[in-house]
Amino acid sequence: MVKKEELLKDYEQAEPRNVSKTDFPPNFVFGVATSAYQIEGACEEGNRGASIWDDFTHTEGKIIDKSNGDVTVDHYHRYKEDIDLIAKLGFDAYRFSISWSRIFPDGLGTKINMEGITFYNNIIDALLQKGIQPYVTLYHWDLPLHLHESMGGWLNKEIVKYFEIYADTCFASFGDRVKNWITINEPLQTAVNGYCTGIFAPGRHQHSSTEPYLVAHHQILAHAAAFSVYQRKYKDKQGGNIGLVVDCEWAEANSDKIEDKSAAARRLDFQIGWYLHPIYYGDYPEVMRNNLGDQLPKFMQKDKELVRNSLDFVGLNHYTSRFIAHATKSPEEGSFYEAQEMERLVEWEGGEAASEWLYVVPWGLRKVLNYIAKTYNNPPIYVTENGMDDEENDSSPLHEMLDDKLRVRYFKGYLSAVAQAIKDGADVRGYFVWSLLDNFEWAQGYTKRFGLVYVDYKNGLVRHPKSSAYWFMRFLKGNEEKNGKEE
Ligand code: NOJ
Repeated sequence: MVKKEELLKDYEQAEPRNVSKTDFPPNFVFGVATSAYQIEGACEEGNRGASIWDDFTHTEGKIIDKSNGDVTVDHYHRYKEDIDLIAKLGFDAYRFSISWSRIFPDGLGTKINMEGITFYNNIIDALLQKGIQPYVTLYHWDLPLHLHESMGGWLNKEIVKYFEIYADTCFASFGDRVKNWITINEPLQTAVNGYCTGIFAPGRHQHSSTEPYLVAHHQILAHAAAFSVYQRKYKDKQGGNIGLVVDCEWAEANSDKIEDKSAAARRLDFQIGWYLHPIYYGDYPEVMRNNLGDQLPKFMQKDKELVRNSLDFVGLNHYTSRFIAHATKSPEEGSFYEAQEMERLVEWEGGEAASEWLYVVPWGLRKVLNYIAKTYNNPPIYVTENGMDDEENDSSPLHEMLDDKLRVRYFKGYLSAVAQAIKDGADVRGYFVWSLLDNFEWAQGYTKRFGLVYVDYKNGLVRHPKSSAYWFMRFLKGNEEKNGKEE
């Protein structure tokens, strides 16, 4: 227990840190991130097909404030203004996702919807004109509804073929200008929240001991198929890189006891190892195979070959950390946690974010980065998401909502952690803030605000940069002195 107290002390003393751009290598990429369903709106425009999130949000009881992404922050019509903002703030890169059902409205890959292609061409061209590099995610949770309804979506191995066609089409259409691709965002969340807890689309929980693993398996195969088509048809000509984005909370053992240490190690294997072990070592982590037995699908020999080494960089979405204790019966429901024989404890002092899962623990990011470097032979890593949220609050005046001191402190802490991991030897190439704008936060609707830029939902969706946006602007210009005053 001594160790835990020391860690907490270390955290308190280390906060808030000052950090400057000179703490990073000269070609390090700083960007902002978003995703299609969370910001685009225009759900029935441009010949877009429905996605599983359209269906889910329009089902009673799924979204806390009964909202949906029909309009959201209307990025579809305001993308120019939003790109101007990214340029004004001085970011090098923008990570956004393509809505699959804008390209293939029914997902089947028979007829390309040119209106969708034009929309993303416009975005890419507008970014490049401003000198901003596009980092494009192919799948950020918005599966074409038809694929789910007609053949079971991620539950059916056939999905791999449809994803490959979709990826191929995107590489062919945009790859002359897009050099950094992410196949799938947080496959763990789709598997667990979509098919175990059911709090995300498509909201399944009936077969929670098998479906998450099947869905994860098909996502890994789909990722590998997209990687493979890129190598065969585009790599030589376009010269781009392909990544997969995993999400990981740091797992700190709750004590020095061996049971707690191995529980924390299991936790990491069940988060990152689930996806990266097959890619780097050809199969799921041993602990997953032992604990899950037949619940875990097996890779056929030819699939193993396809999956092995199918990655140019690891994308890491990281927000928070947890102490982990050994437990044979997890207090958290659902087979996903049961199988890990551990419980997640929450004892941080610094937990100011609005989302109940988001505790502010900057040093956890340094640990995850070093863990990935050590476990997977130091691959290139991009932190593809990092940020914190404020609670939506009708009664606070605008100037208070814009003065987001805690978010500035969060970024200082987490950026320092990235800089330290680089000094430790991790090959971190870039960092993306989640998110450019306040937006639709999935099951939490519009009750949580993650943006650098405030969106006034009641008054014409007007954008107002928050203090954290201006802090970033100064940081990126190199005006944030290391010993500068606290914001
Ligand atoms: C990860 C997801 O990729 C993103 O869509 C979400 O809004 C953030 N986490 C915050 O919860």
